[in-house]
Amino acid sequence: MELDLAMRKRRMFREFDGRPVSREDVDKLLWAAGRAQQGRPGVRHLIVVDDPALIKTAVQVLPGFVITVDPALIIVHCSDLGAVEVDNVAGDGISRIDTGAALAHLGLMARQLDLGTCTITSWSEAAVRELFDIPEHVRPDATVVIGYPIEKPRVPNARGAHFRPAIHHNSFHTPYEVQS
Ligand SMILES: Cc1cc2nc3c(=O)[nH]c(=O)nc-3n(C[C@H](O)[C@H](O)[C@H](O)COP(=O)(O)O)c2cc1C
Repeated sequence: MELDLAMRKRRMFREFDGRPVSREDVDKLLWAAGRAQQGRPGVRHLIVVDDPALIKTAVQVLPGFVITVDPALIIVHCSDLGAVEVDNVAGDGISRIDTGAALAHLGLMARQLDLGTCTITSWSEAAVRELFDIPEHVRPDATVVIGYPIEKPRVPNARGAHFRPAIHHNSFHTPYEVQS
C-alpha cells in the first residue's frame, strides 16, 4: 500500500470482528513501532498482549473504551525512565514525543495489514502497571488496541476539517495557504 493511502485510511477503530492477528503481522507491527524516531536509545519498551483472558481484563480497566468484541491484540508502549535522562538533560518530554511517533508508525502499518488500531490513555497508571507487571522505573505511555475492524469510522467534522491543522507561514500571525 502506498504511504499516502495508508495515511488516508488511518483512523481510530473501535469495532473488531474477533479474528486473531498472525504472528507474522504482530512482528510487522512491532517492527514499525521500533523503526520510529527515538531521542534516546534504550527507552522504548513494547508489551505484546495476546492472552484473551488478559485482554478481557485490560478492556475493563480502560474506562471509556466501549466495545462489543474484544480486540485480538493490545500493545502497551512504555518508556524506561532510567534511560531517558542523559547528561542531566531530562528526556521525559522527548520520550512522550517518541511515543507518538511509534504509535503513528504502528497505526500506518496496521492499515497496510488491513488491521485497525485505537490508542487508549484514559486509564489509571497504577492499574496498567499491575495488570502487565511493569516495574517502577518504566512508565506505561499508551495502550493500543488492535484488530480487524468491522466499521468505517465517520469523519467527525464535515469535509475532513478534523484533519486540517492551523498552518502558519514564517510568522504565527500569517496563515499558510495549502495549494494542493
Ligand atoms: C494520544 C491519544 C489518546 C487517546 N486516548 C483515548 C482514550 O483514552 N479513550 C478513547 O476512547 N479514545 C482515545 N483516543 C482516540 C481519540 O478519541 C481519537 O483520536 C478520536 O476519536 C479521533 O479519531 P480519528 O483519528 O479516527 O479521527 C486517543 C487518541 C490519542 C491520539
